[in-house]
Amino acid sequence: MKAEKFTLVRHFDGFPKTTDFKLESEELPPLKDGEVLCEAEFLSVDPYMRGYVRSMTPPVTMIGSQIAKVIDSKNKEFPKGSYVFGQMGWRSLSVVDLGTKSFDKNAPESFRRSKVAILELLPDLGDLPRSYGLGVCGMPGTTAYFGFLELCQPKEGETVVVTGAAGAVGSLVGQIAKIKGCRVIGFAGTDDKCAWLRQIGFDVAINYKTCADIDAALKEAAPKGIDCYFDNVGGMLSHRIRQQMNLFGRISVCGSISSYNNKTGEVSQVPVPESTTVSKQLRIEGFNVTRWWHRKNEAIMQMATWVREGKIKVQEHVTQGFHKMPQAFIGMLKGDNTGKAIVKA
Ligand SMILES: NC(=O)c1ccc[n+]([C@@H]2O[C@H](COP(=O)([O-])OP(=O)(O)OC[C@H]3O[C@@H](n4cnc5c(N)ncnc54)[C@H](OP(=O)(O)O)[C@@H]3O)[C@@H](O)[C@H]2O)c1
Repeated sequence: MKAEKFTLVRHFDGFPKTTDFKLESEELPPLKDGEVLCEAEFLSVDPYMRGYVRSMTPPVTMIGSQIAKVIDSKNKEFPKGSYVFGQMGWRSLSVVDLGTKSFDKNAPESFRRSKVAILELLPDLGDLPRSYGLGVCGMPGTTAYFGFLELCQPKEGETVVVTGAAGAVGSLVGQIAKIKGCRVIGFAGTDDKCAWLRQIGFDVAINYKTCADIDAALKEAAPKGIDCYFDNVGGMLSHRIRQQMNLFGRISVCGSISSYNNKTGEVSQVPVPESTTVSKQLRIEGFNVTRWWHRKNEAIMQMATWVREGKIKVQEHVTQGFHKMPQAFIGMLKGDNTGKAIVKA
């Protein structure tokens, strides 16, 4: 059987380009005992892919997760017709050998060592769309739930700031903060995204690309100062936000997308954060969601309940067609998406 996959043919330098990828076909071997044949239904495009491939040696199949249908099986844990979540990379069809930790021998060590299984049955999401397994009821939802609640420990009445607020993780963090009774301020890159954030309950949304005075806008939005900051972007915007943190503020550092697309060797010029960290006695903690992967069902089930109760609104940015994987990935890095960026195969 013939399958298609995207190979990364060279390292990214600055923003990824479509020519950094090559669409290739591969002949799949017949299934051996214990193996499963999966057909991609939805594929995820995520910021981490930009960084992870730095430690891989091209040419290599692009890494990534997908929701797939088991179309043939020699493994009774994954019967034909079941739906799975797996780390198959950018592949249309995959033969999954459950004995391996990763598809590609030259996948980064951190990926191979992570506690994320190569294949899992998709949790029962009931009436919710299966694609939510890549977003609110998947890795981004788990990231928002634990990364915010465990590290920021938000209390009712506190002020929370979220950057990357209209994205997969950020939009969920802001809504969880509202559920916990906080005042929520989000930063996003377009007026439309900001309008959507207000619609889903953010108290204030600021377009960081057009706002002439971030300090003044933040002071007006958070007159009592900031208690919790969920940082998706790093860089100068995060530096400005940190200056308005309250005593004993908590910062959960989830990502730093503002520098992911730097040219090779380019270093971001951001002032050192030490003086505010000391004077405000801040707690700043970075995390990787795999820290809580053994508890992910707790997050997934809670997020699903909040979605059903209408307390969390979900938006997906869906690109049609497996062949558009590179465009969807590059578009997400440039900010085309509101909510979770996915590809419908
Ligand atoms: N620590 C973990 O375990 C973990 C897990 C998942 C995700 N993450 C991190 O969480 C962050 C968000 O990930 P996501 O999956 O939810 O992606 P996302 O927010 O859905 O998509 C990326 C967004 O980043 C914004 N962006 C791009 N360049 C930017 C820049 N220079 N400055 C500020 N914002 C910029 C764009 O929105 P705008 O239009 O607003 O610019 C874009 O839509 C990323 O940093 C990612 O690496 C970490």
